[in-house]
Amino acid sequence: MSTLKIVIASTRPGRLGEPIGRWLAERARQQGSFDRVEILDLAAVDLPMFDEPHHPRTGQYVHPHTKAWSAEVDEADALIFVSPEYNGFPPATLFNAVNYLHAEWTGTPLGVLTYGAGGGGARARAQIELLGGYLTMPIARSNFGLANVFGQVADGTFTPVEGNDESAAALVDELATLVRERVLVGEAA
Ligand SMILES: Cc1cc2nc3c(=O)[nH]c(=O)nc-3n(C[C@H](O)[C@H](O)[C@H](O)COP(=O)(O)O)c2cc1C
Repeated sequence: MSTLKIVIASTRPGRLGEPIGRWLAERARQQGSFDRVEILDLAAVDLPMFDEPHHPRTGQYVHPHTKAWSAEVDEADALIFVSPEYNGFPPATLFNAVNYLHAEWTGTPLGVLTYGAGGGGARARAQIELLGGYLTMPIARSNFGLANVFGQVADGTFTPVEGNDESAAALVDELATLVRERVLVGEAA
């Protein structure tokens, strides 16, 4: 059974990230390339600023919130980070959540959907791809951004424009392929 988890990075009250993340999750479920699609909402995960005494590489987690976060991420066969761009970067909430763990990220294929003003969060997306690469996560090539996204969210609902559904489908399919390749390599080893 394959599981895709979609991480909503923004925790801002009134965030666009939540409707965008819900749309992506629904699109991924319709796509059917994963058996299970779940949302990990960082507002609900509610991690404090990094407060573990040991390097995450040791896996020696002290706090219940870290153990719960670790279990959630560990369960994912692939991840998509849905992230805004704040001052040219992803939000601190995302960096903080990533820094809590180590082995849980290793080898897990990563998709990135950013959104923002005219650039669609391209700078933030590049940063997230660097971060994922550092953590040895296979990075999807179909990562994409939603530019000038503000008019696409009304009453808590994201409405895709031409091409959005296709971009989401391509990303989800590529991640499913990366997961299958990873399983095949594991079986051959
Ligand atoms: C602190 C801050 C910085 C921002 N910086 C950028 C930016 O560098 N590039 C961009 O495209 N949009 C920027 N924006 C606009 C955000 O893309 C927009 O507010 C978006 O809705 C934020 O995502 P969220 O609603 O899910 O929190 C910024 C917004 C905030 C609050």
